Amino acid sequence: MKKGWILAALAALMMTTAVADDHKQKDWRKDGSDTEKLENLVKAVPSTARIMIEMGERYKNLYWAARQEKWEFAEYQVEEIEALTELLQITRPSRAATAQDFLDEGFEKFEAAFEKQEWEPFYKAFDHMRAQCVICHARNDYAFIILPEHPATATSPVLNLK
Ligand code: HEC
Repeated sequence: MKKGWILAALAALMMTTAVADDHKQKDWRKDGSDTEKLENLVKAVPSTARIMIEMGERYKNLYWAARQEKWEFAEYQVEEIEALTELLQITRPSRAATAQDFLDEGFEKFEAAFEKQEWEPFYKAFDHMRAQCVICHARNDYAFIILPEHPATATSPVLNLK
């Protein structure tokens, strides 16, 4: 009886090791061919949908940073929105042309607004950008994705909102 248990335990241990070995062999990051690695990396680059989740967060953070007169933080959000758009151009070439139009037209009013550090010029710049976001959605067959003129809240802990 005791011997039986020991044998069973040994068998279980061997199976676990085999499974672990199996996993190791299947880790393409370590053991895959260069072609397989490249193919998987290309598949893993962020899609438009993923990038847009972050875009939406930064959109809200930008609005509320200005409402709280955290101007440097607001400026930083604009820079990150631009960087995200450039990332999208790389990961999804089919969106590159419309993304370029957004880069060319979406941000033109921010510089003067950040120099003044006042709500009114800021909001004009923000609203101008919002219109360009929505134009890009329409041009990519997502006209139903519209953005609030006044986001109700934002997620960054820096802003400490509910
Ligand atoms: C290059 C064009 C383009 C630009 C510029 C753009 N978007 Fe988008 N956005 C899209 C597309 C396309 C989708 C649909 C994503 C998909 O499923 O592929 C989308 C989806 C979204 C979504 C929905 C995400 C979700 O699943 O809940 C949000 C929010 C969003 N965009 C916010 C913004 C904001 C804010 C801006 C401007 C600061 C912006 N987008 C600028 C193309 C764009």
